[in-house]
Amino acid sequence: MSTDPDTTDADTDTETDASPPDRIADIVDEMTLEEKIDFVHGSYDPAELATGYVAGVDRLNVPSLSLVDGPMGIRAVPSTAFPASIALAAAWDPDLAREFGEAIGEEARGADQDALLAPGFNIIRVPQCGRAFEYYSEDPYLNSRLAVGAVDGVQSAGVMATAKHYLANNQEADRHHVSAEIDERTLREIYLPAFEAAVEEADVSSVMASYNRINGTYAPQHRRLLTEVLKDEWGFEGFVVSDWWATHDGVAAAEAGLDLDMPGMPVYDWQCHGSTFLDLVAALPDEVWFPKKDLAEFVSRPWQPANPNPNVLDESPFDDPLREAIEDGRLEESILDDKIRRILREMARFGVLDGEQPEGALDTPDHHDLARRIAERGTVLLQNDGDTLPLEGSERIALIGPHADEPKVGGGGSSEVDPTRATSPLDGVRDRLEIDGSVTFERGIEPVGDASMHDSPLPEIDTPWGENPRIEEAMRAAQDADVAVVVVRDLSSEGADRDLELPGAQNELIAAVAAVADRTVVVCNTAGMVTMPWLDAVDAVVETWYPGQEDGNALASVLFGDADPSGRLPVTFGERAADYPASSEAQYPGVGLEAEYSEGVFVGYRHFDAAEIDPAFPFGHGLSYAEFEYSGLSVENGVDIEGATDPESETDAGPTATLTLTVENVGDRPGRDVVQAYLAAADSSVPRPPKELAAFEPVELESGESTTVELTIDERALAVYDEDDADWVVEDGAFEVLVGRSSRDIRARASLEA
Ligand code: GLC
Repeated sequence: MSTDPDTTDADTDTETDASPPDRIADIVDEMTLEEKIDFVHGSYDPAELATGYVAGVDRLNVPSLSLVDGPMGIRAVPSTAFPASIALAAAWDPDLAREFGEAIGEEARGADQDALLAPGFNIIRVPQCGRAFEYYSEDPYLNSRLAVGAVDGVQSAGVMATAKHYLANNQEADRHHVSAEIDERTLREIYLPAFEAAVEEADVSSVMASYNRINGTYAPQHRRLLTEVLKDEWGFEGFVVSDWWATHDGVAAAEAGLDLDMPGMPVYDWQCHGSTFLDLVAALPDEVWFPKKDLAEFVSRPWQPANPNPNVLDESPFDDPLREAIEDGRLEESILDDKIRRILREMARFGVLDGEQPEGALDTPDHHDLARRIAERGTVLLQNDGDTLPLEGSERIALIGPHADEPKVGGGGSSEVDPTRATSPLDGVRDRLEIDGSVTFERGIEPVGDASMHDSPLPEIDTPWGENPRIEEAMRAAQDADVAVVVVRDLSSEGADRDLELPGAQNELIAAVAAVADRTVVVCNTAGMVTMPWLDAVDAVVETWYPGQEDGNALASVLFGDADPSGRLPVTFGERAADYPASSEAQYPGVGLEAEYSEGVFVGYRHFDAAEIDPAFPFGHGLSYAEFEYSGLSVENGVDIEGATDPESETDAGPTATLTLTVENVGDRPGRDVVQAYLAAADSSVPRPPKELAAFEPVELESGESTTVELTIDERALAVYDEDDADWVVEDGAFEVLVGRSSRDIRARASLEA
């Protein structure tokens, strides 16, 4: 290995026609310590596009590596703004998740990026989670299926996917320091499964270590999770990248299994900070009348939350600290070499090393069409009294809402996307009206704003000051119309948790309109449940989450019946915060920077069922314009199970049971349903939820059409994690199979013997 950084002899070029392993070995052998250190932390992207950038090693023909946000579109350039991840999840369709992954991967390549910092799929443990819109579900099985689909899709486009945020980043409150206090069985059954599936089934290229602590240890320094579980037990061969400024102790993180520290520079030098104050600091020469770092600390102080991230003004802990540790023998250089091999291996795998990458496609009509399809598929019809929907198009419509003339593209934070076009609900409805239909628009109340972090590391709500709209005008418009459609929104963002009340005077607006309108439809652009004090006073409620750039087009398709509202809730919509499992302060947001996950595996509907609490709308709920009947459920128990299962045997055991049933559309319109199969263990040596999702299948049927649906239940669905055996165990005994249209709408039952 050459130790002289000034070596210039040309023959150090590593052979580009060597096999990847040999070439990678040669590169690592040839790299100087300086080059190695620079390869395991981020640096400034000269193109100013990447969210994270690893400079190449020109001397050895090693290109740079560009990583870009985010889960709903490419942050670097104007690009397609896809619907929120939770909207994709509401379609309950891994194939659609795969199609989305491929499209966003193509967009990343179109922006000349090599890795996508997505998908994110932390369990939505609490409804207050500020990033719920960036995640999928409260259920580990649904979460896993969607994660595998999305990762497969992204990587099929020649882009490295990043599974984030590992692990248990389930709240934004004190996210930089809170410790998720979780027992082993809950970790294994609820919080790890989607990451395990992303590694073992989708061979995910990268995993992002989160900000928070897990049982007292910061994720980037969590040896058990990063090395013992992820790398040793699951065989993960990619690289672990830190969340931005999440690394506190470089040497400890290096030893624990972190491979790449990002962004690798202070926030004022980072190409994406985008805030005015920090722009000023960044422009100053390095040493002015007092150090840049102190000035940046001073100007950013107004934004700092309680318990801020202490690292945002520091140089990379993988720079000097790592170099010094290696030079004085506190850290073996071989540990550094493994990190570089992991990064180079993924660069070789995805054609970055040899510059053989697909062109990709940015902001294309096909992607716009897909964004619309996802928004339509993810739309959940929560309530539809008197078949208020679908509209015929010939109605006089009063479209009401403080932002009904603006698309709800996304939430605040690193997931923000800047689309080249976007359709508002008003434009979507106007474009869809029939010749004798009409629409009037009234804000009714002051705007509530939109959430963004573009201008600061903390969420900001920008409230456009407009004319003083009056609720009376909205009421009059509703009275003069055949139907009132009230569009409301919440303001969720990374960096802060969300309120469960609609912001501003939106609840009052809905109530006032419902008091005078013939028919009232409420359209919720929210990141999850909100309290609905007006629910009994309105006729229909549609949850469209954050629909992305195709907002108005997808909304109109569903409102007018061009598309069936085929979304099903991937999270429980409870009536109030107190009904949720993590309802004590100790559980959420935690006390003394510790959140007790004492609810254990009873997350979401598992808790609502066990506590016999009726939610406003249950997990898996969603109405259709069609009507479905289930019949002929049969269970074939495919594999005898001999007690504890060896993790090796799990992967080849195949389905444990196969369910078969007939689903018929007995309605007069085409529609989509999601057949859901839950398992209820008759008895168990450990507390088990009353039912647990074990399989599901979306189906699309014309009026009068029927189909045979086959669902496979794998061994893991029957198992519990035994902490004493440190293994999954399927206990003998009977299970009831519950097949339904939601966790509370069971249409067929059967039994299964384990
Ligand atoms: C953020 C987020 C992470 C994102 C990264 C880069 O703080 O937690 O999801 O990919 O930093 O923007």
